[in-house]
Amino acid sequence: MRKLETMYELAASENLNLCVGTGIVMMTSLVSLGLQHRFGQLIDTISSKSEVLVQSCTVILCFFAFLSALAFFKYYFLETAADRVRNRIRVRFFSCMLIQPMTFFDHYGSAGLINRLSDDANLLADTTTKQLAQGLGEIFTVIVFTYQMITLSRSLSIVAFCIFIPLAGLTLLLGLGLRYLRAEVQSRIANSMQVAHERISAVSTVRAFCKESEEISHFSTECDKVLAISWKSTLVHAFFHSAMDLSNGVMIVGVMYWGGRLLYQSHISPGTLITFLLYARVVGKAMKGVSFFYTSLVKGMSASERIQEVIETLPGKGGQETDVGEGTRTLDTVEGNIRFHSVSFAYADNPVLSEINLDIPAGGIFAVFGASGAGKTTLARLLLRLYDVKDGEGTIKLDGVNIRSLEPEWLRRQIGYVSQDPVLFSGSIRTNILYGMASGTNIPADQLDSLLYKAAKDANALEFILRLPDKFETLVGERGELLSGGQRQRIAIARALIKNPKILLFDEATSACDLENERLIQEALDGIGKNRTVIIIAHRMSSIKIAAKIAVIEDGKSAEVGSYQNLMAIPFGKFKRLVDGPGT
Ligand SMILES: Nc1ncnc2c1ncn2[C@@H]1O[C@H](COP(=O)(O)OP(=O)(O)OP(=O)(O)O)[C@@H](O)[C@H]1O
Ligand SMILES: [Mg+2]
Repeated sequence: MRKLETMYELAASENLNLCVGTGIVMMTSLVSLGLQHRFGQLIDTISSKSEVLVQSCTVILCFFAFLSALAFFKYYFLETAADRVRNRIRVRFFSCMLIQPMTFFDHYGSAGLINRLSDDANLLADTTTKQLAQGLGEIFTVIVFTYQMITLSRSLSIVAFCIFIPLAGLTLLLGLGLRYLRAEVQSRIANSMQVAHERISAVSTVRAFCKESEEISHFSTECDKVLAISWKSTLVHAFFHSAMDLSNGVMIVGVMYWGGRLLYQSHISPGTLITFLLYARVVGKAMKGVSFFYTSLVKGMSASERIQEVIETLPGKGGQETDVGEGTRTLDTVEGNIRFHSVSFAYADNPVLSEINLDIPAGGIFAVFGASGAGKTTLARLLLRLYDVKDGEGTIKLDGVNIRSLEPEWLRRQIGYVSQDPVLFSGSIRTNILYGMASGTNIPADQLDSLLYKAAKDANALEFILRLPDKFETLVGERGELLSGGQRQRIAIARALIKNPKILLFDEATSACDLENERLIQEALDGIGKNRTVIIIAHRMSSIKIAAKIAVIEDGKSAEVGSYQNLMAIPFGKFKRLVDGPGT
């Protein structure tokens, strides 16, 4: 029951449309009751005067016209409600998803989440609106028509019920089986979509390794797994359909046989028998509708569980990382002193950092150097509070204040971050660079343009942008893939610079640039770095030459810290070994 309530909560805002829609469905049922009754009367009067026949036909025609008007409004109200609920579920799901801790994304994967956003939201919206109204209408029809059948003939009704009751039992049993099957179908569809999503987004890798046919067969295996389980679900459905139709047929024949006998004995008129048969047919159809409603409720419930799993797992709830989102303080001025004190960190069960100590002074260029997998990017993620350091596992301080007490959004606004594999969004170069501006910034267009030019110039991107036919309006394609790796990196640097942050955090930000471009960016950084803290993460010597101080990270520990000359002077030092290569 609780699951039904939670499912319905998402559609509750459409109560008015739903009530009107359900009302129309019920009215349709009453009108068709009147219609069946009229049909019966027509049979009894068919042999009387022709005016009566014309009159009856006119009334029946009016019934049909009214039914068609009801059909229009039913469709309009319920479809509108479904569209709005679908929208609302998607927006709510998306907004709950975006504020989740990073561990959430590590756990669910993007394709699985997109599947929930599209398929499950669709299913849930339909169930809580159209199916619900239709289902309630069918239940109403069963009740009203059954009552009318009993009023018309008790003995005929007993015959009909003897067939209805086993039907209801069968429906419940099938519904239980279907529920398990539907959950399984949905999860297998999500797996197959995960495969498709990954391969499509990395199609050049697939092609470069000539893995097209292998990937096709991989995807087809995943689809076959979906097919295997949906086949079972289809079988249950098909069985259900045919059992329903057979039961309806048996019921009609039973009623006809028993009704025929009553007719011979003149207990009922032919019109009554026809009316009863029509009622029985409507009840049979409505019973089938109720059963479908039940099965769609089952499908909707499994979709609802998958949606609620995300909506209800807000940060700080349900076993996710509890500390993301914590912290409300902001600082009036930021100097840019950063201190990692005895910081340890693990991704789930994978320990990465161990008692790291780093003192990054304000206003200088600081480099973090180390082998691949040493934990450098993890340090950047912790500073941005994409992941939080847990209680008792050290502290990170900005100007002497623990960053866990700082408002995460405020903190991130102070840091211009260029990630190791920067992604641009489809749109123009202009919109991508301006993406770096704080939301709600209101700057006149000419000033905005000069900021845009300056950021692009400092990132050494201006020259190549101006050479493009559409200049700043050039479209970058999905994830920025119409640009080269080095161009993408420079746009990402401009995006970080435009917000004029107090701290710049570059994670391998120039790794895809040629040496000349890297040198130019570094020269610009020399100027930009004044009055800012610049942290450069790299494992390429050329990238860190400009740093005043270098920290060497080895296996998640801070191994050595000092200037380039100091570190190179340590005999058999770790830095010297990394620079000169093994064997020195
Ligand atoms: N989201 C994650 N979940 C689990 N483990 C992760 C995750 N991200 C990174 N790791 C692990 O943490 C360790 C450190 O990764 P990190 O990305 O910090 O290294 P890095 O020093 O930046 O390496 P590189 O120079 O190759 O970029 C690696 O062993 C990696 O497998
Ligand atoms: Mg890295």
